[in-house]
Amino acid sequence: MVTKRAVKIPERCSDCQSCTQLVACPSPESCIGCGACVAACPQEALILTERPEPHHTVTIFVNGDPCRVSAPATLKAALEEVGFRFADLPQKEGLAAPCRTGGCWACALVVNGDLRPACLTPLREGMQVDTCVETLPPRRVVSGIMGHAVGGVGTPWHLKGKVYLEAACFVAGCNFRCLQCQNWQVTYLSRREPLTPEDTARLMTEARRAYGVDRLAISGGEATLNRRWLLKYLRRLREYNPYPALRLHVDTNGSTLSEEYIDELVGAGMTDIGIDLKAFTPETFMRVTGLKDPVLAEQYLKTAWQAVRHLRAAHPQVFVGIGIPYNREFIGLAEIAAMGEAIFRLDPEAQVCVLDYRPEFRNQGLIRPTVAEMANVHHILREAGLKTVICQVPGGHIAPDGRLRPLYP
Ligand code: FES
Repeated sequence: MVTKRAVKIPERCSDCQSCTQLVACPSPESCIGCGACVAACPQEALILTERPEPHHTVTIFVNGDPCRVSAPATLKAALEEVGFRFADLPQKEGLAAPCRTGGCWACALVVNGDLRPACLTPLREGMQVDTCVETLPPRRVVSGIMGHAVGGVGTPWHLKGKVYLEAACFVAGCNFRCLQCQNWQVTYLSRREPLTPEDTARLMTEARRAYGVDRLAISGGEATLNRRWLLKYLRRLREYNPYPALRLHVDTNGSTLSEEYIDELVGAGMTDIGIDLKAFTPETFMRVTGLKDPVLAEQYLKTAWQAVRHLRAAHPQVFVGIGIPYNREFIGLAEIAAMGEAIFRLDPEAQVCVLDYRPEFRNQGLIRPTVAEMANVHHILREAGLKTVICQVPGGHIAPDGRLRPLYP
């Protein structure tokens, strides 16, 4: 097997420390080629290359069976070397590795008795690996538990239009690689002890009480990547907050939401969902998300649109907000119109929130859309028949009635 390592390009490095402050490097003494620091570097100053020196082999025990595997490498790479496959999407059963940066812990396996993420765990001679994880509680890296005044795509406008607060948390790990990721310090965070659903639900319950709110939101990163964790988390929130008024809001890119998964989320207590649709065509979708695999990109895009369809048909009681990104670098006005018309066909009453993509992360050259540009997008979506269109602009929103509303009136 070819083993890899991360190499720094010194002239690109700005010494921002993301590779050490955000990323929990699993093996600083000898790179195992996990790629977490490569994905997290805003300057693209790290690249993965083939390791020049020959690899050695170690023996690990997988479900009790000895396997001779190449090292240095991650546990995930070793398991793939002996025939295991990690799916890109979160699975009900079987192995999956959706983020590959140590945040979602959907790839976690039992290693010497403890849960460890396979994508970030270095091989050790004699390591005992159990692929059945049901005996241990799931974990995930969580940050930013607090009152949140802005609200997400899945926050109804009649609440956002006033002074408004919800308790929110942000989970690490994403299956997209957007160059202009608007929340990259959360997305690529792995240097933090992962929390169980119970711990997170307790902290969120404390935040709900402290801020006196009845809405609890989860965002990211991509909230849906660790299926077992998210379902347990929602159930625990219901258990710890047994109030009919409680609203549980999930913000997502929709790419993992099979019909079965949606049914499970609703069954676990989700009442509101914000789905960021990103694009109408696979080409635009790949430009926005930074994904390189056209087959996977098309699958994600289809799944997200189908998720909206299924939610409307099977769960009309769930509030669905739809997010659309706008920046002329990625998406043209004709495609915005096509998205508006398609959303109108799915749900004429849909709330659509357009996010003005600003320069962030690796795309510092991006120019934030002007208020006039966003007003034009607003007009196009209204022309498509949609009534509740909100466009994010610097310092506030263009409201459904077309007026500018500051964030904090
Ligand atoms: S795939 Fe390993 S932590 Fe997300």
